[in-house]
Amino acid sequence: MRSTTAAVALGALLATVHAAPKPDVDESYPYTGPAVPVGDWVDPDPNGNGKGFPRLVEAPAVTPSSDNLTNNVNVIALSYVPQGINIHYQTPFGLGEDPSVNWGSSADSLGKKATGYSHTYDRTPPCSMISAVTQCSQFFHEVQITGLHPSTTYYYQIPAANGTTASEVLSFTTAREAGVDGEFTIAVLNDMGYTNAGGTFKQLVQAIDDGAAFAWHGGDISYADDWYSGILPCEDDWPVCYNGTSTELPGGFPIPAEYLVPLPEGEVANQGGPQGGDMSVLYESNWDLWQQWINALSTKIPYMVLPGNHEASCGEFDGPNNELTAYLVDDEANSTAAKSTLTYYSCPPSQRNFTAYQHRFRMPGTETGGVGNMWYSFDYGLAHFIALDGETDFANSPEWPFIRDTKGKHQTPTESETFITDSGPFGDIDNYTDTTTYQQYKWLVKDLAAIDRQKTPWVIAMTHRPMYSSQVSSYQAAVRAAFEELLIENGVDVYLSGHIHWYERLWPLTGTGAIDTPSIIDNNTYYTNPGVSMTHIINGMAGNIESHSTLSTGQSPLNITAVLDFQHYGFSKLKVINSTAMSLSFVLGQDGSVGDEVTLLKKGSGSSSSTSTSSPTACTASSIASSTASGITTGFASTYTPPPYVTTTTEVVTAYTTYCPGNTVFTQGSSTYSVTGVRFHLMSSVSLVQISSDTNNITSPPPSQSLTAPAP
Ligand SMILES: *[C@@H]1O[C@H](CO)[C@@H](O)[C@H](O)[C@H]1NC(C)=O
Ligand SMILES: *[C@@H]1O[C@H](CO)[C@@H](O)[C@H](O)[C@H]1NC(C)=O
Ligand SMILES: *[C@@H]1O[C@H](CO)[C@@H](O)[C@H](O)[C@H]1NC(C)=O
Ligand SMILES: *[C@@H]1O[C@H](CO)[C@@H](O)[C@H](O)[C@H]1NC(C)=O
Ligand SMILES: *[C@@H]1O[C@H](CO)[C@@H](O)[C@H](O)[C@H]1NC(C)=O
Ligand SMILES: *[C@@H]1O[C@H](CO)[C@@H](O)[C@H](O)[C@H]1NC(C)=O
Ligand SMILES: *[C@@H]1O[C@H](CO)[C@@H](O)[C@H](O)[C@H]1NC(C)=O
Ligand SMILES: *[C@@H]1O[C@H](CO)[C@@H](O)[C@H](O)[C@H]1NC(C)=O
Ligand SMILES: *[C@@H]1O[C@H](CO)[C@@H](O)[C@H](O)[C@H]1NC(C)=O
Ligand SMILES: *[C@@H]1O[C@H](CO)[C@@H](O)[C@H](O)[C@H]1NC(C)=O
Repeated sequence: MRSTTAAVALGALLATVHAAPKPDVDESYPYTGPAVPVGDWVDPDPNGNGKGFPRLVEAPAVTPSSDNLTNNVNVIALSYVPQGINIHYQTPFGLGEDPSVNWGSSADSLGKKATGYSHTYDRTPPCSMISAVTQCSQFFHEVQITGLHPSTTYYYQIPAANGTTASEVLSFTTAREAGVDGEFTIAVLNDMGYTNAGGTFKQLVQAIDDGAAFAWHGGDISYADDWYSGILPCEDDWPVCYNGTSTELPGGFPIPAEYLVPLPEGEVANQGGPQGGDMSVLYESNWDLWQQWINALSTKIPYMVLPGNHEASCGEFDGPNNELTAYLVDDEANSTAAKSTLTYYSCPPSQRNFTAYQHRFRMPGTETGGVGNMWYSFDYGLAHFIALDGETDFANSPEWPFIRDTKGKHQTPTESETFITDSGPFGDIDNYTDTTTYQQYKWLVKDLAAIDRQKTPWVIAMTHRPMYSSQVSSYQAAVRAAFEELLIENGVDVYLSGHIHWYERLWPLTGTGAIDTPSIIDNNTYYTNPGVSMTHIINGMAGNIESHSTLSTGQSPLNITAVLDFQHYGFSKLKVINSTAMSLSFVLGQDGSVGDEVTLLKKGSGSSSSTSTSSPTACTASSIASSTASGITTGFASTYTPPPYVTTTTEVVTAYTTYCPGNTVFTQGSSTYSVTGVRFHLMSSVSLVQISSDTNNITSPPPSQSLTAPAP
């Protein structure tokens, strides 16, 4: 079955709302769980009734003009489309008319009007069940303005409709035309939830003030699916566990204050953390909350996204006692099951197959020959950016299509043959074991072939999943098998990824995973080597409830790793300097300082290792490099020995920070609180200010937050 009954009914009622064209969700077997899964046994009301975990609140994109609200614009997110922009906005209820924006080239002349279309899905719970209109999104509106001049700022306003308040006059700046020279910076991030992400958030806001052109988020967006898993009780083998005042964190550091706060009576620790999960205790509310938090970025610069594993469905795996099976399959709250029997049909239909992700963003897949929000590409100045889907749509992808469940038989699988994260394919497949027959692969071949390297000498690809890492995993072999040869053959310069919750810079690697030693100028400077090697950066350190990854006891980084930091949260700043130089730096959330930087140079450019920001002295290769620096095309090979440059950072628990981002609002019991300012360390003292029991204006105790759950 395709669309749900409610979507069909809405479609009939409101001609302007498209019944969601994609993704399809299979309903061959009935969903048997609670109508609204709420990860809070004591307080299963989606709005909270004051007994259980706190419910968190974030400011909407448009401040309502009245307090008698019926509808509101809660999220606004910009994205690039060719020669223009897509303005995506979200409301709890329909608009009763086509969505539109009034726009123009100055703030006081918005004489032009663009209209678009709306879409919706049967979210669980529906916004009609959420009491705060400013905290729910169920209708998604897309308005495109195209045929615009490049590198130009335009102004727009979203008009009021069906109870919403008109937005302020906002602005966006179109992409720089391909081939146009000049430095620019973008913010690249991965694996960003809410917990542990306050420092990254603050530095991202700063990066926009400093002129970043756009943000590129390579998947694992919001961690909405961690509504349930959160922190685990101490019998689990996860190194961070909740045991009240006896909780111990790795390294013997003091435990965060929230761990000392007793859980509401009757709550158990594996239901979303000591005080309520990454953000909240409801899948869809987590999406709402996180997107509203990110308004500070997405209303100012295009916020480009890729799919990650956390976007697939309502959950990934069961808890230690199979509590999710008991809840979602057996409809028994606060219970256990003998074994996990989670399947694709365990999540409510609207929480399967990347559904929320597909509706809550609008990437230029269609406009660039790709597919929706799954794969697409775009140009900016001297660079071509390629977004790949590392979750579905290639052979042995981490999330499985049904055809793989049935080992190639084309029928729908039986219920027990499926997995909770089954998703896709989003493009056509001729032979599911052969990546070259996938639409995504065929698109990539074409996209790469069409690049004009005179215009965009830099080609940067991102996928949520790394190809290599010191945290070795089998999915990496599948991603390599799918894309590595094609990307290297076509001279892709950089391969960005996340998924692993640490920062790891690799030496340039050939298609066999060997270090391309001749391309290493020094510790912080590489040559690109088209057709031979690529630079890989893994940065899944933006911050989320699962905390950061660590090496196992006694494990050393591989020799392909140049720098490994699993202490600091942050994001990557990618700077294209000119047609022969670019740099990638790791910006630390705690203070905006640079934790690592690598400069990439194109050979024959006349550039030298002098662009490196750090002294190359102790390095054999670099001493050779500096003596041959200008215009060299030959390597330094044999004497180079990478291992001395491997630097690892010892884990310290100050990294287990909980952030209460500016203007975070949450209600506990009948009171509303807010937190003013950004706090960096959970351990630092914070005074919590209770504002009042009925205002939407806040300042308060750190919500829930912190740590863990298995697997990134
Ligand atoms: C997911 O959606 C896609 C696109 O609509 C569809 O082709 C695919 O069959 C769906 N997969 C699953 C497992 O629901
Ligand atoms: C509140 O909104 C309702 C419905 O839109 C309207 O009937 C009512 O008059 C409004 N009340 C006030 C005080 O504005
Ligand atoms: C207008 O908003 C109300 C909620 O105030 C909602 O019930 C109604 O469906 C919306 N109208 C349309 C046409 O979507
Ligand atoms: C939890 O703490 C209690 C003491 O409060 C201790 O007896 C127990 O062993 C701890 N459990 C685990 C799994 O660490
Ligand atoms: C949930 O189960 C635990 C363990 O059996 C129990 O201590 C707690 O009281 C239960 N909570 C509720 C709300 O039933
Ligand atoms: C599908 O691809 C596999 C390689 O992964 C190949 O062995 C097999 O013969 C192909 N099947 C068909 C029907 O072409
Ligand atoms: C790195 O380690 C791999 C596998 O252990 C080994 O084959 C390779 O020779 C090493 N490379 C260098 C440069 O030490
Ligand atoms: C190499 O770079 C890392 C990260 O910037 C730094 O920590 C390390 O000290 C450098 N090593 C040398 C030999 O310069
Ligand atoms: C590109 O920038 C690098 C680093 O700033 C500089 O050394 C080089 O001369 C520049 N190249 C060109 C062609 O401008
Ligand atoms: C929010 O609360 C602060 C402190 O109580 C107060 O000064 C301010 O006026 C309030 N703002 C609004 C919009 O109510």
